[in-house]
Amino acid sequence: MKITIKALMELAVIVHNHSGIVLKKNKAYLIENRLHPLMEEYCFSCFEDLIAGAKNSSQLTSRIVDLMTTNETSFFRDKRPFVLLKEKLLPDWQTNQGQNRSQLNIWSCACATGQEVYSIAITLMEYFKEKIFDHNIKIKASDISDSAIVKASRGRYSDYEVSRGLSTVQLHTYFTKEDPHWKIKDELRSMAYFEKTNLLHPEIASGGFDIIFCRNVAIYFSKTDRRRLFHSLSACLLL
Ligand SMILES: C[S@@+](CC[C@H](N)C(=O)[O-])C[C@H]1O[C@@H](n2cnc3c(N)ncnc32)[C@H](O)[C@@H]1O
Repeated sequence: MKITIKALMELAVIVHNHSGIVLKKNKAYLIENRLHPLMEEYCFSCFEDLIAGAKNSSQLTSRIVDLMTTNETSFFRDKRPFVLLKEKLLPDWQTNQGQNRSQLNIWSCACATGQEVYSIAITLMEYFKEKIFDHNIKIKASDISDSAIVKASRGRYSDYEVSRGLSTVQLHTYFTKEDPHWKIKDELRSMAYFEKTNLLHPEIASGGFDIIFCRNVAIYFSKTDRRRLFHSLSACLLL
């Protein structure tokens, strides 16, 4: 089913208002493809009907936003941020904060299906070793996509997913095989808590985080929204 330019622009406004994601005119094919199953499920015969439905249903709007998100991720994606965590951020935290506080709060704020969260948890395990239990560690894991956050909180991954970024040693140390999946072990899973959060919602500006991972998400936003996002994230950091 083809989307008209007028419908595309209306849909772009809905998606932008609810997520900050910018849909450009050249994304017609992507929109048609991703929304096709939803159109069939609701028996909509054109995108104008979908838009009218979304205007009357926050649940349908959430489904549209969910389908328009790009949840691509992998374990230890780009490597460098995790090296930085181990070699700079955690030692700095120990020197400056950890002396007086056992609480360490980290936020993975667009965590997609959770690989970033568990890469952080593994890095913490590898850094603190047996002393990990001396610290009260909490990793907030959030995303706007309902389906991504559900998968993240389950912590179960396919052979293909674990083949992207984990060493064999890490796989066998931190996961158990539950055919056909690999499940993250409870001691890592229990460091994290999962929440649906729209990063562009004004209420995100609270909380005291030592470290925030905000990666591969601002690229989907306008310049103004990026500025707004980084401003509110900086207010969430403990200084
Ligand atoms: C490409 S993934 C990045 C995942 C991970 N941070 C990484 O770097 O591998 C982008 C994620 O941002 C999420 N996202 C998009 N807009 C968002 C918003 N307004 N609030 C929170 N999450 C959002 C998407 O649902 C998606 O899961």
